[in-house]
Amino acid sequence: MTILGIETSCDETAAAVVSSQNNQLKLLSNVVATSLQMHQKTGGVVPEVAARAQLESILPVITKALEEAGLALKDIDKLAVTFGPGLVGPLLVGVETVKALGLVLNKPIVPVNHLLGHIFINMLEPTIVDRLSTIDFPLIALIVSGGHTDLICMNKDYSYKWLGGTRDDAAGEAFDKVARLLDLGFPGGPAIEKIAKEGLPAGRQGNPNAILFPRPMINSGDFDFSFSGLKTAVLNVIQSTNYELQATSSKADIAASFQQAVIDVLVAKTLKAAQEYEVGQIIIGGGVAANEELRKQLKTNCQKMGIKLAYPSKSLSTDNGAMVATAAFFLDKVVSPLEIQATPGLYF
Ligand code: KG4
Ligand code: ZN
Repeated sequence: MTILGIETSCDETAAAVVSSQNNQLKLLSNVVATSLQMHQKTGGVVPEVAARAQLESILPVITKALEEAGLALKDIDKLAVTFGPGLVGPLLVGVETVKALGLVLNKPIVPVNHLLGHIFINMLEPTIVDRLSTIDFPLIALIVSGGHTDLICMNKDYSYKWLGGTRDDAAGEAFDKVARLLDLGFPGGPAIEKIAKEGLPAGRQGNPNAILFPRPMINSGDFDFSFSGLKTAVLNVIQSTNYELQATSSKADIAASFQQAVIDVLVAKTLKAAQEYEVGQIIIGGGVAANEELRKQLKTNCQKMGIKLAYPSKSLSTDNGAMVATAAFFLDKVVSPLEIQATPGLYF
């Protein structure tokens, strides 16, 4: 079985080919084009600009993914596409392209929920911690992206229960907004991680304990999150005289302290979910899962508690086509081309 996965929910136009051989999934190609540079001027994704960029990139990206896999469209058994959640214009580009391909080639289509893609990518390429080679079920999945922060408990048959999510800003959104406050550009996550680690100017690491930011909802007793108050707390510090006086070195301290506050909440709630649901496996996915400090601290805490942890490689944590193709192997849902609809507000 060979699946072509297509992802166009935001500012990445991505296509990948995943094949199953001897019961193992193999990534044959993975091509990502991004309109990120266009959004750097505006400090965030402008939906209309992203949609136009999707249109320009979609056919070259699909062609390249097939070429790199050494395959032609006729060799593909199923087409998989993200149908939501995301921005309507960008989503439509992927969905309508796949619809046309499905109709012309008479191939089945698997509609994929982007959020499940961020979970299932761990089944393609688990970065194995503690010498363990498989993913165990039931498991707790933490999805941390630009638009979502969710905790899910998933069973062996891939049925799942949503445990909680953010009530306001997503974790990635908070990184992006705080980076904007610190004048670090877009996307904010990698920029904050970099100056926290390297300092600004480079040489003196940011101190994660320099400022004690709030850990929102850390003891709320449920699995919900809230990050917008944390962003306001950062703004208050930036507006203080102290920050103005020593702007450059303070930036790294603010970045490191903010990052630590987010990590503390994510780690505490994820481990609490693992305990409460008595699972021995945690997986993470989504752009913020690329954060090295989050991976490291989650790993240390999981090891203490005897819980397995898996996460995708950094490039497969952010949006890509491989997550869509991989999810399609596990989701038992095939639709005819005219049945699939872009669904921006799709959730769990
Ligand atoms: O999953 P993703 O690529 O797109 C969405 O589905 O939203 O996630 C993008 C988000 C952005 O908010 C970006 O700032 C954040 O992931 N991100 C990071 C890192 N790399 C990307 N956040 C923290 N640390 C990183 N290294
Ligand atoms: Zn995503």
